[in-house]
Amino acid sequence: PRERIPVICIDGPTASGKGTIAAEVAHRLGYGILDSGALYRIAGLAARRAGIEIDPAHEAEIAALVHRLPIRFTPAQQILLGDEDIGQAIRSEAAGMDASRVSALPAVREALVALQLDFQRLPGLVADGRDMGTVIFPTAPLKVYLIASAECRAARRHKQLISKGISANITALRADLEARDARDMSRSVAPLKPAPDALLLDGSELSIEQVVEQVLQWWQERQPFV
Ligand code: DC
Repeated sequence: PRERIPVICIDGPTASGKGTIAAEVAHRLGYGILDSGALYRIAGLAARRAGIEIDPAHEAEIAALVHRLPIRFTPAQQILLGDEDIGQAIRSEAAGMDASRVSALPAVREALVALQLDFQRLPGLVADGRDMGTVIFPTAPLKVYLIASAECRAARRHKQLISKGISANITALRADLEARDARDMSRSVAPLKPAPDALLLDGSELSIEQVVEQVLQWWQERQPFV
């Protein structure tokens, strides 16, 4: 049965390194990957393109739109909306903020549940997001809650943008990500918080490799029970 297929959940705030860690852990284990944030980013982008205001008054309209979206992830990790590769368009800071706003609407979250559950396939899955361990895969044998200081997350995001040739202001980035954290943590449905059985990991002072190693070690410790 599907519930027996192993899932590793990696949840945490914006820019804590979840995506990078999840991708590397999945790669090492030969598992699939679910970037759930991308789904909310696509939902935000679709609403914006359709000219729909992202607020509670338009919740049903956006949810209906999301239900119809032709979202596909290719084996090469491309994210397609119909035939369009939207991987780049959803990565901007503005798209992140839209995603955070759209994700606060319960009907939109509901519209994305089945699609997320469908990622649970053999030989296993690494799922990254805010509510992987609390809502989508509550029985997952390993749940990691990855945090990093706001200062450190802003600095990393800044470096990332600069390396892509995008100018950025570190103070504004920090304010932005703190605003997103606050919204993601305070919403009424599936707020960002650690699952009761999540293992807390602070990556502020650790390299990517060290974080990956810790997650893999925890996974290995669980093997006899999975
Ligand atoms: O991880 P990310 O930055 O791509 O996520 C973008 C937004 O989507 C985030 O601010 C909150 C929302 N999100 C969510 O509500 N639940 C998830 N499982 C993943 C993301």
